[in-house]
Amino acid sequence: MTTPRPETLAKLTPVLTKRWLSPDAWRIGTYEKLDGYAALRKALKAHPDDLIQLVKDSGLRGRGGAGFPTGLKWGFIPQGDGKPHYLVVNADEGEPGTCKDLPLMTHDPHSLIEGVIIASYAIRANRAYIYIRGEAVHAARRLRNAVQEAYAKGYLGTNILRSGFDLELVVHSGAGAYICGEETALLDSLEGFRGQPRLRPPFPATHGLYACPTVVNNVGTIASVPYVVLGGADWWKSMGTEKSSGPMIYSLSGRIANPGQYECGLGITLRELIELAGGMQPGHNLKFWTPGGSSTPLLTAEHLDVPLDFEGVAAAGSILGTTATQIFSDQDCPVYATYRWLEFYHHESCGKCTPCREGNYWMVRVYRRILAGQGTHEDLETLLDTCDNILGRSFCGLGDGATSPVTSSLKYFKQDYLDYIEGRTAPKLSDKQLVGA
Ligand code: NAI
Ligand code: SF4
Repeated sequence: MTTPRPETLAKLTPVLTKRWLSPDAWRIGTYEKLDGYAALRKALKAHPDDLIQLVKDSGLRGRGGAGFPTGLKWGFIPQGDGKPHYLVVNADEGEPGTCKDLPLMTHDPHSLIEGVIIASYAIRANRAYIYIRGEAVHAARRLRNAVQEAYAKGYLGTNILRSGFDLELVVHSGAGAYICGEETALLDSLEGFRGQPRLRPPFPATHGLYACPTVVNNVGTIASVPYVVLGGADWWKSMGTEKSSGPMIYSLSGRIANPGQYECGLGITLRELIELAGGMQPGHNLKFWTPGGSSTPLLTAEHLDVPLDFEGVAAAGSILGTTATQIFSDQDCPVYATYRWLEFYHHESCGKCTPCREGNYWMVRVYRRILAGQGTHEDLETLLDTCDNILGRSFCGLGDGATSPVTSSLKYFKQDYLDYIEGRTAPKLSDKQLVGA
């Protein structure tokens, strides 16, 4: 394990993670002692429109993967329309490799709750939901306890802090379907239906939960709001880059010495993140990595100095996504890793549209053939052709995302595929594993 240099250590900017190591950080008493709910008191004295403007000025962009400007999204909510408005927090973190929202809710649930109250006040919503993954039992328990504490202290319920503002907050556990992290499938699930994506437009901003104006934001986005309110737009913009402002929680996993969450200004590089994480594991050299989960095209050791912000990663041919950097070494096989991801997409495809449902089914079969040593050169063409028929033709992002590891691994690591096909690499799967996709 290597020790990070002081100049690299200085790149750590604990903002959302700053309380995580405090004893009992999840209790309301600890939270209040450490500036908790101070932003709410400040926000409730401001006009809701001024809060929306503040978030716009800060440049805060969605932390769920797409990076949509948060203030702009809030500003889409029609005012004076006479309909109920809703805030829905997408806590259905499910992108492979992504683990930033669950630790946040486990360690510091009140920062999310405070953000929910401020955001709801800004968009004039009197009911908010946190939709959390069904498997995240521990985080959901923490969150529910924290919600009860907030009600007991008058931060939730009627006439919050005597401001005249009312808010009911419900924590809703999903049933463990990746597709329910897609915002419209999430809304269907919340309404009690089978979670399947809806056609967009109309977007949830005008036709969301129960066909009413709804803001759907990621956990990290909403938990950032109290800091923007307390610190101001200029302070927030002093971290990150011009177009990708603020700190970001990068989750590092794989062949590194100290996997975990590292919060740094947007625009840090993987080289610096690996240094912060104590270097690669002994005997491992970086071969490929995901900048933001498996739905984002793979990058390689050539991309160590790419700035990990929305623009920098896009310029390198990938997507920042959820900043889940999964790190693979020269002892890992990109063909096998891609196959495992495809198994996931095939399993999680909701089946609504043909390109994703059938395409992933067939690609899994082709990968099994290649990995069992029975692949042909034509199989590589079939994979690219199938991706071509999924990308841009699927109903939602899951289909598009499934093609990312396939096309990028073929772009950078075609030789690894050929080594299976031409018999230089020993088969990883047996004949028995060929069928049953
Ligand atoms: P998107 O770019 O289509 O939309 C982003 C947000 O902006 C949505 O809330 C959408 O309603 C809103 N929006 C966009 N255009 C709008 C308009 N004209 N009017 C009103 N609202 C508008 O992205 P999408 O499909 O919602 O999310 C894709 C991202 O999700 C991917 O980049 C991927 O990285 C990420 N993802 C995250 C996962 C996780 O576990 N956090 C899981 C899987 C994917
Ligand atoms: Fe369902 Fe896949 Fe189509 Fe999305 S792309 S609607 S997950 S079948």
